[in-house]
Amino acid sequence: MAAMTAEEIRQGLAKLEPNVHWAHHFDLGHGIETVSPEAGRFYRKAIGLNELGALFPSVLRGYMGRSSFTGLRCLDLGSAEGAHSIMMAQDGAHEVIGLDGRQLYVDRASFVAKAKGLDNVRFGVADVRSLDVASLGQFDFVLCSGLLHHLNKDAFLGFTRSLFDLTGDTLMLYTHVSSEWVANKFKLTPSEPLDGGYTGALYQEHEEDSTPEQRIAQVRASLDNVYSFWASEESLVKRFVDLGFRSIVKLYEPAFQKTFIERVFRGIWILRRSAP
Ligand SMILES: C[S@@+](CC[C@H](N)C(=O)[O-])C[C@H]1O[C@@H](n2cnc3c(N)ncnc32)[C@H](O)[C@@H]1O
Repeated sequence: MAAMTAEEIRQGLAKLEPNVHWAHHFDLGHGIETVSPEAGRFYRKAIGLNELGALFPSVLRGYMGRSSFTGLRCLDLGSAEGAHSIMMAQDGAHEVIGLDGRQLYVDRASFVAKAKGLDNVRFGVADVRSLDVASLGQFDFVLCSGLLHHLNKDAFLGFTRSLFDLTGDTLMLYTHVSSEWVANKFKLTPSEPLDGGYTGALYQEHEEDSTPEQRIAQVRASLDNVYSFWASEESLVKRFVDLGFRSIVKLYEPAFQKTFIERVFRGIWILRRSAP
């Protein structure tokens, strides 16, 4: 595929709602970046999100006994603008599928993949609460970053079941969990346990009277649900044990951001179908 010219890249970006800040940082060549240092906190956040991808080599090596994604089938749920999918594709994955509920994000991610000449990654719009798991099939590596804690309570059991069913080998999960400290800090509302006794609390994402358009415009938030369910850490782990994961490891990297307690509630887990 011929590389895009600077003019083609600029024209493409101009069609992708340039007034909405990009969440993921890409260097598209010709000195063009999707978000640049002048964007201040948006830039710092975008660079910070790459840290999760910086863990890929040690996760591959340490848990899957591999030196790269070469040949793997990978799924990125809640892929947003595709930074993590693109990393997997550039590292040689056989196929990467990124799914997100926001059309703008899927359009942006698809544009970046095209600009980078990648043909082993594709993006699609999907609500992860109603995935067609049977037709997607299983993936060697599933990434679920920053998504689970945006889903409503009624979706918890079904979505975690989908995560298990979609994972052929390894799931990398980044999510928030609730605790008394978190409940105070984020003004979480108490919630009755789910079937199976899984506990958690509710986080308000949108105003009760907000419109569907206003909710979609909050690009990093839930698609439509006003409240999302943050499971307690114990229930989150119990749920994945109950589903059948045989190995669950929590990572404390990237190194401490802010305080230890904040690092603990923004957790990264590596879950595997097979025992070590
Ligand atoms: C906080 S962002 C995380 C994005 C990305 N994985 C990352 O680590 O930067 C949450 C993403 O989940 C998407 N999302 C939220 N609810 C969703 C749903 N029900 N189905 C599909 N995508 C959803 C949002 O559009 C957004 O892109």
